[in-house]
Amino acid sequence: MPLILAIESSCDDTSAAVVSDGVILSNVTASQAIHVEFGGVVPEYASRAHQRNILPTVSVALRRAGRSATDLDAVAFTRGPGLIGSLMVGVSFAKAFALALDLPLIEVDHMQAHVLAHFAEDPKPAFPFLCLTVSGGHTQLVVVRSALDQEIIGRTIDDAAGEAFDKSGKLIGLPYPAGPEMDKLARLGSPTIDFAQPDPGELDFSFSGLKTSILYKLQAKAKADPTFVRENLNDICASIQHAIVSTLIRKLVLASERTGLNRVALAGGVSANSELRARLIEEGKQRNWETFIPKVEYCTDNAAMIGVTATFKYEAGLFVDQDVAPAARL
Ligand code: KG4
Ligand code: ZN
Repeated sequence: MPLILAIESSCDDTSAAVVSDGVILSNVTASQAIHVEFGGVVPEYASRAHQRNILPTVSVALRRAGRSATDLDAVAFTRGPGLIGSLMVGVSFAKAFALALDLPLIEVDHMQAHVLAHFAEDPKPAFPFLCLTVSGGHTQLVVVRSALDQEIIGRTIDDAAGEAFDKSGKLIGLPYPAGPEMDKLARLGSPTIDFAQPDPGELDFSFSGLKTSILYKLQAKAKADPTFVRENLNDICASIQHAIVSTLIRKLVLASERTGLNRVALAGGVSANSELRARLIEEGKQRNWETFIPKVEYCTDNAAMIGVTATFKYEAGLFVDQDVAPAARL
């Protein structure tokens, strides 16, 4: 019955969670507003903000869980992938904390944890299942045979799906991160513009061509009518979102056909997108899939998913020594 303190600091969210035998007792996240004015995450500012936020975040997580540091059985942390300076803060904190309290350390792969966010609450998918993990940094199709046996069968060859939302949003003047705002505006418009949806084949994704297609198409329209983007913002958002979501769903359907898996799950920050959620449910009804989408709190970066993954690793006896170092790529 392990009681685990979990720490996540891979990008621009400092998060700490206390997880008791796989049950989330607390999940506290400090986000960093500083990056908005730069239109993207500035790694140096991210590390400094983690440094400021980590101790208060851990203290609040323990307090909300009603537990003290001496009750803990292990300390878990995100080892990677992520921004190296950001990871370093979480890893160093976890190592110091574990050393001071003589606790075992558990390293967690951030992407494996996004998939296992499905085990933070009920209903939990049975194994094996297919998971589409879509975040600001990654787009992966994963066959999940068991918690710790995950095979990536498709991935992006350039931009991630979240990056596609954020970069195309920037082109039309939306604040960073553009995904949530695009989702909101898209609900008020219709997908009237056709943007290119490049396909590198098989189960892989490519989103950088979409961004170029948006840029050229909107530049041409703005030449004829300088107010085009402002006047048609909702339809443009709906069209961009439709292009991204259609690509994701098309590949998910192909992956399900290829693997024969009809338990299908979404993970990562982009799974907060309302069109993606609705289309997965719709597709699921047509194809007799059992579908799973975690609560938004567990879709975006959070330490609860790190704690859940660490619980599986604790049970498997997978610990690391104090000489562990962060890894930008795992
Ligand atoms: O998983 P996450 O919180 O952080 C990473 O590990 O990257 O994902 C963040 C990404 C951002 O690109 C953000 O724009 C996108 O998720 N996102 C959305 C929505 N909410 C967050 N994209 C589309 N629609 C949303 N509602
Ligand atoms: Zn993430």
